[in-house]
Amino acid sequence: MRIVILGSGRGSNAEAILQVQQAGKLGRGRVVQIFSDRPDAGILALGPRFGLPADFLDPSPFKTKLDGEGEQHYIAAITACKPDLIVLAGFMRVLKLPFVSRFEGKIINLHPSLLPSFPGLDAIGQAFRRGVKITGCTVHYVTLDVDGGPIIDQEPVRIEDDDTVESLAEKVHAAEHALLPSVIARLSEKPL
Ligand code: GAR
Repeated sequence: MRIVILGSGRGSNAEAILQVQQAGKLGRGRVVQIFSDRPDAGILALGPRFGLPADFLDPSPFKTKLDGEGEQHYIAAITACKPDLIVLAGFMRVLKLPFVSRFEGKIINLHPSLLPSFPGLDAIGQAFRRGVKITGCTVHYVTLDVDGGPIIDQEPVRIEDDDTVESLAEKVHAAEHALLPSVIARLSEKPL
């Protein structure tokens, strides 16, 4: 199963996936390419470290969505990778119809809350400020309904009285680092 990872940030989840792959525990999954919409994103440093291509792909002209010219650019580059699965690991852009329909059923996203609670930006901060006692992370299929596609799996995280937003973020990230590779390994054993 050929995997393309898209990310905009530090890439700790992509790194977790690659470590599990190196340990031979990603099932039939194999990461073939990383793309980022930010030339300075930490995720791009994983390419040389793990010996795979990691490239900035220009997402312009829009700031928060992938649409128009940028979207066509992404569709062409990703199609060339012949992906079976596209993993959004901290890719902070909304995907629109041409992209989602081109790769229908093959795009999964990681979100740092127990969806449908706390969709959108700063999900960890939203959960902390709302005072819920359990939050967590979710892996779901991507549809046009932002953060609303079918849920594949979730991992809960308890918020203790002495947690801060920073300590909560650490716990949610640790849960993500276990959940996302395990979902990928499981999906890789199923016919796509
Ligand atoms: C992760 O916490 C992921 O859940 C979140 O971005 C972070 C990426 O971290 N994604 C979203 O908020 C998507 N709406 P990473 O770059 O260290 O993997």
